Amino acid sequence: MNATAAALLPVPLATPAQEVPITVVGILLWGVLPYVVLALVIGGSIWRYKYDQFGWTTRSSQLYESRMLRIASPLFHFGILAVLAGHVMGLIIPQSWMTAAGVGENLYHLMALTIGTIAGVCTLAGIVMLIYRRRTTGPVFMATTRNDKVMYVMLVGAILAGLATTVISVFDPTVPNYRETVSPWFRSIWILQPDVAAMTAAGPSFKVHALVAMVLFAIWPFTRLVHAFTAPLHYFFRPYIVYRSRDGRTPGSVPTRRGWDPIGTPDRDRPGGRASRRSGGRTPARSGSRPADRR
Ligand code: HEM
Repeated sequence: MNATAAALLPVPLATPAQEVPITVVGILLWGVLPYVVLALVIGGSIWRYKYDQFGWTTRSSQLYESRMLRIASPLFHFGILAVLAGHVMGLIIPQSWMTAAGVGENLYHLMALTIGTIAGVCTLAGIVMLIYRRRTTGPVFMATTRNDKVMYVMLVGAILAGLATTVISVFDPTVPNYRETVSPWFRSIWILQPDVAAMTAAGPSFKVHALVAMVLFAIWPFTRLVHAFTAPLHYFFRPYIVYRSRDGRTPGSVPTRRGWDPIGTPDRDRPGGRASRRSGGRTPARSGSRPADRR
């Protein structure tokens, strides 16, 4: 173990209790819910792609405001990528592998504490700036839907709850080590043998964080966050002029299902709004309508 690490992190982290009673609620939360969420993420993404392919976008607001966006967006996105890397290290790579690679328990937690906190704070600062910009820049606020607001609440909730786990673990040495509770549970989900006991033994802050994260994942396919699943790589190879196909078999031309409004912006969809004016006052063009209707 590194001497500096030991000096900076003198408190040994508690190990999970051996005898933790498993309850029905525990089974539902840690044994069933993860699969409901997985079904929603996979099924919801396929469904969204099929019925709202033209709505599969960030709905960028860069044209309305770019000064603040230029700082806030990279701060948030690079921050969240670093947080993601930290989650891969802490949740997916087993503790024994890290130890074998020379990264002992205390050194690992020191790294997670310093790099993880910097990444988490950058992510939080970025999202706070993005929300401030959205609220104070008129056109950006106009383009904000109720769907966006719900998504922002869950996203900020997940980030805050994540940072809280780190802070609480530092100040409370009785919190069980998450690499012996949360991490085995997380890995067990993917081999279809959910380790409910491991997660039941985790600290309350980790349980809250995992629950908020699961809610965020459940709504993910139905929000603008879908853009994270795709990268516009074809931009590097597309011709400068993009021609619209006259072929009726345009992708995403499956008629919209009842009960789903493709995610639009209030200003565009309002009667007399841009889409309405373009269509001569007829119903605004929907992603699911046939190409012939849009011409
Ligand atoms: C089920 C999914 C998730 C699990 C099991 C999980 C678990 C954890 C754990 C164990 C930590 C503590 C890391 C440490 O202190 O070393 C943590 C921290 C954190 N989590 Fe999550 N997390 C999940 C999803 C998310 C999501 C979706 C977000 C953000 C959108 C997020 C954001 C954060 C942040 C900002 C931190 C604190 C900074 C850091 O360690 O990087 N987490 N999470």
